[in-house]
Amino acid sequence: MENAGEVKNKVLDVFAGKFGSSEGARVFFAPGRVNLIGEHTDYNGGHVFPCALTIGTYAAVRVRDDKTANFYSMNFEDEGVISIDLSKELKPSDELKWVNYPAGIIWAFAEKGMVISCGFDIVLYGNIPNGSGLSSSASVEVLTGFILKSLFGFEVSNIDLARIGQFSENKFNGVNCGIMDQFAIAMGKKDHAIFLDTATLQYEYAPIKLTGCKLVIACSNKKRGLGDSKYNERRAECEKALSEIRTLVDVQSLGELDEATFGKVEMLIKDDVRAKRARHAVYENRRTITAVQALKRENITLFGQLMNASHESLRDDYEVTGPELDALVDAARKQPGVIGSRMTGAGFGGCTVSIVKDDCVDSFIEKVGAEYLEKIGYAADFYVVEIGDGPREIL
Ligand code: GLA
Repeated sequence: MENAGEVKNKVLDVFAGKFGSSEGARVFFAPGRVNLIGEHTDYNGGHVFPCALTIGTYAAVRVRDDKTANFYSMNFEDEGVISIDLSKELKPSDELKWVNYPAGIIWAFAEKGMVISCGFDIVLYGNIPNGSGLSSSASVEVLTGFILKSLFGFEVSNIDLARIGQFSENKFNGVNCGIMDQFAIAMGKKDHAIFLDTATLQYEYAPIKLTGCKLVIACSNKKRGLGDSKYNERRAECEKALSEIRTLVDVQSLGELDEATFGKVEMLIKDDVRAKRARHAVYENRRTITAVQALKRENITLFGQLMNASHESLRDDYEVTGPELDALVDAARKQPGVIGSRMTGAGFGGCTVSIVKDDCVDSFIEKVGAEYLEKIGYAADFYVVEIGDGPREIL
């Protein structure tokens, strides 16, 4: 994988090509993320356990003396430079394409009283595979927020950057996501995962000592497609299930229930599908708490088993895996040296994450790759990833 210095030079070269010179341009980075366990729990008041990656999004940026913001992405070269006029009210639109994400952040800053005083030129480059489920969009959101804070001197904490990212994705981009992705990215810490209680935003860094093992991401190359609408549908199902439970029990979220209490109140949910969705949310939250305890005791075997159980619940109760992610996980489980394997992120396509023993990684990639191609008809991509820090300027 290219290092930050190499990417910086590459992005500055493109910046000079698009905007005359790179003099005075500053370069920033925000990571992508992978969630180890705790899926579809963040909007249910449960726990998550994600970590930031060393891959992510870079941007070279320089302020202008007018009110225009010019965006260019090296990942979407065909779209050319997309401009927005900052003196007008910002609204999401099809013409803005990928720029809807950074534009949403500028809009969200203004909603919170932080209006930017002038425009800027910016070139972005991401080495996270787009649409893979490693949060390329949240990476762009947090990066934009970090840049606005750095260029215009706003007093915003990294947790606020996460909140603003989620707010903008909910209100500007129309995806009712939880806080996990933006939080994992804004608060990332090298070699640590973040054990986050999404009900209170209390968090704890847990060192990830995968002695003798690696984190391997397998990207299904199935694009999410209708994923966003299905995502909102799952969220609505959980909210309805909670409201049914609340007719008798005083709880604020599904994350407050343990397995035994859920067993007693499950019959209040009037629909079998909704009951399955709620069961996943409750059990996945409990699994996440147990998994982090297991990791603290260096019981990586139990951690892996809980990852496997997480996938099964996402497949059978939450129904967000699909043939591609199931094929990757089924193939992974047959390989020697695999501690655990599951889908990660929203699902409906995207990636799996597996913990694999060092000396089995090459054969894992070869065998899982071959079985996936045979079953699904196109290739998966594999990345051996490392856990990295949150957003920063590359000096
Ligand atoms: C997406 C959302 C997150 C979270 C996951 C599922 O990544 O952005 O908030 O809900 O899906 O765990």
